[in-house]
Amino acid sequence: MSAPRILRLGSVKNVAQFAEHLRALQLQIPCDSAILSADSPLFLPLARGEITIGNRFAVNPMEGWDGSADGAPTENTLRRWRRFGASGAKLIWGGEAVAVSHSGRANPNQLVIAEHTRAGLAQLRAALVAEHKLAAGSDEGLLVGLQLTHSGRYCKPNLHTRAEPKILYRHPILDRRLGLPHDFPVLTDSEIEGIIEDFHRAGRIASELGFDFVDVKHCHGYLGHEFLSARTREGKYGESFENRTRFLREVVQGIRAVAPGLKIGVRVSAFDTVPFRPDPAQSGDGKLGPGIAEAHADLLPYRWGFGVNASDPTQPDLAEPIQFLSLLESLNILLVNLTAGSPYYNPHIQRPALYPPSDGYAPPEDPLVGVARQMEAARELKRRFPNLLFVGTAYSYLQDFLPHVAQAALREGWVDSVGLGRMVLTYPEIFLDAAEGGAVQHKRICRTFSDCTTAPRNGLPSGCYPLDSHYKNSSAGVKLAALKAKR
Ligand SMILES: Cc1cc2nc3c(=O)[nH]c(=O)nc-3n(C[C@H](O)[C@H](O)[C@H](O)COP(=O)(O)O)c2cc1C
Ligand code: SF4
Repeated sequence: MSAPRILRLGSVKNVAQFAEHLRALQLQIPCDSAILSADSPLFLPLARGEITIGNRFAVNPMEGWDGSADGAPTENTLRRWRRFGASGAKLIWGGEAVAVSHSGRANPNQLVIAEHTRAGLAQLRAALVAEHKLAAGSDEGLLVGLQLTHSGRYCKPNLHTRAEPKILYRHPILDRRLGLPHDFPVLTDSEIEGIIEDFHRAGRIASELGFDFVDVKHCHGYLGHEFLSARTREGKYGESFENRTRFLREVVQGIRAVAPGLKIGVRVSAFDTVPFRPDPAQSGDGKLGPGIAEAHADLLPYRWGFGVNASDPTQPDLAEPIQFLSLLESLNILLVNLTAGSPYYNPHIQRPALYPPSDGYAPPEDPLVGVARQMEAARELKRRFPNLLFVGTAYSYLQDFLPHVAQAALREGWVDSVGLGRMVLTYPEIFLDAAEGGAVQHKRICRTFSDCTTAPRNGLPSGCYPLDSHYKNSSAGVKLAALKAKR
């Protein structure tokens, strides 16, 4: 596959040209020609049962690589959470992934929820709420959650150069990529029970700290997500759909017992694909080739993914995700955040970008195709589950036209709330600005340079290096620039 020609959205002059471009790509992405101010669906409240959310945009979780060695927030973490608050979003989905134990961290600077980090986590929440009040006038209708995670296959709790995976089953492609020997142990049922207790304890602490909900993370290849595809695992946590969702049910049951007032949400990778890698035929001279699917002809029917078409695992299949959403509904879990794939093995599915992170591959498709794929899946799932409250994902690549698409998607009922990821790192106030005058600040738009992924992959703190002077001018910024120059 040769690299596709991709029109840089930064060069698209106005929304009419953008809409024309969508038509040329034959993408069904809805797009309004103007941003309404007071009457925009972006600013309408959302209510269901005991849940009330003051507007229709959310901050999606953005993992930090800047906690202390023992998992407490630092000044950089606080700054990020203040900026989440400054967005004016009335739904803060998790803030960032917070590990339920030291060994479950995805990086040696990830936050941990434990007795010794209580004060720091409480401070994060308070700082966010204070900043939100300044931006939005009041904290009425503000819902703040904490994303609880165990990183499973992608644990790196101690050194950024040392992976310490905890796997649920042998994966024919990912085990090879992680260099796991054929006798690498899988987590035992009793180790899993210990992790479930960690989630219960974490839920209790989050509730005591005043968080409105916790997200029991089921996405991006981490432990919760890996359960959903554990078809080849034997025992009570594997094989059947019922067993693969036992982890979720047991976590939820325990959290409700110890923290009855706490709401629960789930962020789920609603579909996935076989892992991708750079095409070796088109890589070289420090350049990454476009992504191609790992060889899988001898792995059919494919059994190692959730929401993956077993006979063509480069394609999604929503049948099991639909079953999963029915389960959430039956558990009275109404808050659902839809994402897709994984940043580790198919980043073009998970976070469409023009520039790849250092360990990724050049885009195999116009990133707008990736945006449309996630939006379309959300639309279909919303249609089937009108009572669930869905947050949509992967809007940042829309750049200057994000507000126009978000507004149209909300008005047409594709999704209940538009989640912002990377754009929040560079330009948290984008929707507030758009609503005030219809104009956004062109210079602050995330251009999907992927430095916020490349930096942490190289052991540096997370942040927007190209556009946020706080990082660009830091010592880490200098290191990152040097690393990139070497490549
Ligand atoms: C630096 C960075 C950190 C992220 N950390 C998390 C995380 O902790 N938890 C999570 O569920 N998703 C995480 N994501 C994924 C985002 O929430 C989001 O799904 C993704 O960036 C696509 O949305 P966007 O197009 O608005 O950026 C992260 C993404 C980035 C770029
Ligand atoms: S580094 Fe900044 S511009 Fe690049 S993808 Fe991340 S947030 Fe966007």
